[in-house]
Amino acid sequence: MDLEVDNSFIPKQARIKNEDFYGELATSFTKVFIERALDFIPPLVDSSVIHDNGCGTGVVTQSILSRPSTGKVTIKANDLMQGYVDFYSAELKANQWPAEVSLMPAEKLSFVDNTFDLSVANFVLFMTADDGVPALREMYRVLKQGGAAVFTAWQYFPAMSGIERANDETRGDDGAKIRSLPEDWKKPSFLASRAELGGFDQDKITVHTLQQQVPVGDLGSFARTSWSWLGRPEEGWCSDDEENWESAVAVIEQEWKKSPGFEQLDDGSWVMNCTACVAIAIK
Ligand SMILES: C[S@@+](CC[C@H](N)C(=O)[O-])C[C@H]1O[C@@H](n2cnc3c(N)ncnc32)[C@H](O)[C@@H]1O
Repeated sequence: MDLEVDNSFIPKQARIKNEDFYGELATSFTKVFIERALDFIPPLVDSSVIHDNGCGTGVVTQSILSRPSTGKVTIKANDLMQGYVDFYSAELKANQWPAEVSLMPAEKLSFVDNTFDLSVANFVLFMTADDGVPALREMYRVLKQGGAAVFTAWQYFPAMSGIERANDETRGDDGAKIRSLPEDWKKPSFLASRAELGGFDQDKITVHTLQQQVPVGDLGSFARTSWSWLGRPEEGWCSDDEENWESAVAVIEQEWKKSPGFEQLDDGSWVMNCTACVAIAIK
C-alpha cells in the first residue's frame, strides 16, 4: 500500500494507480473479513459514531452502512495517503455516505477524547509506527467508555508465495526487496499484546482467527494484477521487469497451482483461501 516509490520507470504492463488497484481487489479481500469481524460486536445503533481508521477506498464504511439499522450512524474516516482520501471522498459524494474523511495519521488523530462507539482499523495497524502501539493508544483515547476497537491482520495470504518466487526467479538469487507479510502480526497473541500496550484491559481483549475463501476469477489475470500490485520493488521497477513480465506471471501461476491456498472451482474460476486475525478490544 505504500505509494512512496521511485516511479521514474514503470513497465508498460504495470498499472500504476494504487488506489484503483486496491479499489478493485479490496472488495474481495478486506471486505469479507471486516463483515465477519463486525458480527463479534454488539449491533450498532442509529446514533453510533464510527471511526474508519486507515480507510483506504472505504471498505469498512461500505460494510458498516450495508448492515441493518445503521441508517443514521456518523462515520469519520482518515488515511495517511492523499490518493486514498481523494478516492474515499469521491465515493462519499457519489453514495451520499453519512461520513467525512481527512488526511490524518493513525498515530496522531485530531479527534477529541471519547468520541467513538466503534473504531475500526482493517488491515492497517501493521503498517503504522512502532508495531501499532501509538495508533492503538489513539484508538483507545478516542473511544467512548464501553466502545469497541476492531483491528485485523493477515495470517495467511496465499498470493505472497507466487510473488516471492517470481521475485527470486526474475530478479536474481535474492530478488529485490518487496512487501511481505509481517511475521509477528500472524500471531493472535501479538495482536492482543498490541491492544494491551495501547491501554486496553487484558480481560477485554479477544482475538479470533478467521478463514475465508475469496474469489479471484481467472488465475492469469489475477497473477498479472498481483504482480503489478505486490511485485513492485521498494526501490522502484527497473527495465528488466518489463522484459521479464510474462516470465514472472508464468512463475506466479505455476506456484499458485501447487499451493493449498488456491483451488479451482467446477466453472474453471479460482478461489484463494485466506486467514486473518481479528482483534476486538473494549474500552
Ligand atoms: C491494506 S489498506 C486497508 C484499507 C481499508 N481499511 C480496508 O479495509 O480495505 C491499508 C490502509 O492504511 C493506510 N495507512 C497506512 N499507514 C497508515 C497510518 N500510519 N495512518 C493512517 N492510515 C494508514 C494506507 O494508506 C491504506 O489506505
